[in-house]
Amino acid sequence: MTETASTDRGGDDVRLTGISKSYGSFHAVKPLDLTVPEGSFFALLGASGCGKTTTLRMIAGLEDPTTGSVFLGDRDVTGLPPHKRPVNTVFQSYALFPHLDIYENVAFGLRRRGIKSVKKQVGDMLDLVQLGDYAKRKPHQLSGGQQQRVAVARALINHPKVLLLDEPLGALDLKLRRQMQLELKRIQTEVGITFVHVTHDQEEAMTMADTVAVMNGGRVEQLGAPAELYENPQTTFVANFLGTSNLIEADVAERTGDELVVTSAGVKLRVPADRCAAHVTDGGRLLVGVRPEKISLAHADDEGSIPAGRNRITGRIVDSSFIGVSTQYVIDSPVCAELEVYAQNIERDGRLAPGAEVVLHWNPAHTFGLDADQDIDAGVKTVDEEGA
Ligand SMILES: Nc1ncnc2c1ncn2[C@@H]1O[C@H](COP(=O)(O)OP(=O)(O)O)[C@@H](O)[C@H]1O
Ligand SMILES: [Mg+2]
Repeated sequence: MTETASTDRGGDDVRLTGISKSYGSFHAVKPLDLTVPEGSFFALLGASGCGKTTTLRMIAGLEDPTTGSVFLGDRDVTGLPPHKRPVNTVFQSYALFPHLDIYENVAFGLRRRGIKSVKKQVGDMLDLVQLGDYAKRKPHQLSGGQQQRVAVARALINHPKVLLLDEPLGALDLKLRRQMQLELKRIQTEVGITFVHVTHDQEEAMTMADTVAVMNGGRVEQLGAPAELYENPQTTFVANFLGTSNLIEADVAERTGDELVVTSAGVKLRVPADRCAAHVTDGGRLLVGVRPEKISLAHADDEGSIPAGRNRITGRIVDSSFIGVSTQYVIDSPVCAELEVYAQNIERDGRLAPGAEVVLHWNPAHTFGLDADQDIDAGVKTVDEEGA
């Protein structure tokens, strides 16, 4: 890494302007503008093949953009080779030197720059990733999670302004993944530099990042804080890819002040107008969304006790899965054949079993509206993609 005198007026935000990458006639990344604020933990989230790695490699200088520029603060780094950018990358394959011990693996970047006294810096880095006791071991004598931490230490010792992480936890089993998510988050908070983290795992992105950019087919579909994306998806892809959404095709019946009334198979539902990501016209169509955990389930015999003013749909339970903290129900209804409901496991109503007639009800404020001219199943995870 080379420190170039920086005017620093724009801080050290990473800014991509009109950046794109094509391979022949295939557009891996379509022209996009993206700002990653200095010091943030930023995630690029999307299914396999959506252009995450290509975007990251353009930031690193490992890939030349077809169009557009990469800025660090107000410095245009588009023409700089990777080693001249204050950026380091951590890959899923940790790429440690097998014949060097951990200490020398971490010291490598300093030695290459001709720095003689590396002891203090290497010691500090090993402490940061909590591997001080492992300095003399070889990589194969460490667990996957420990090797990943060595890879992070080896990248951070160069004092990059930006650390790029490409599916860094992809090779770890689920439990270790969860631990390492918290660990990486702690390290980022401690060093305070910008992390750009690529993952196809929506839970991972939401756990770790301040800001998530959801990518789909070479574009950023939506960008925001995890809770904002989850609560206010703007597209069916984001609604389905981030958690699960029930999406119902409906017709707009009327607009009363700040609320819309829509109908689907004769059922009336209320939607807050300010939660509609679509241009709404009377008689127009809308996809109405509600998250499974926002819905309560009552046995049809108890319909009378449901408070007034709630959105309600009648249906029949076709499947229920007890998963400890909650039970997940699938309900067949006139508006949609597979509505999902997650019920926290507090007191279980034994009548809520497959075959039971039920009423789904929820606070209309938890309803959102999406443009109906979209694929209602965009972003629904298939078994293949889950394991990607
Ligand atoms: N060198 C290349 N030549 C042709 N196509 C490529 C090349 N690198 C990547 N691609 C294609 O570009 C798309 C995006 O790839 P990538 O950025 O690696 O996706 P992700 O990291 O999101 O899985 C994929 O369809 C991939 O096959
Ligand atoms: Mg990738």
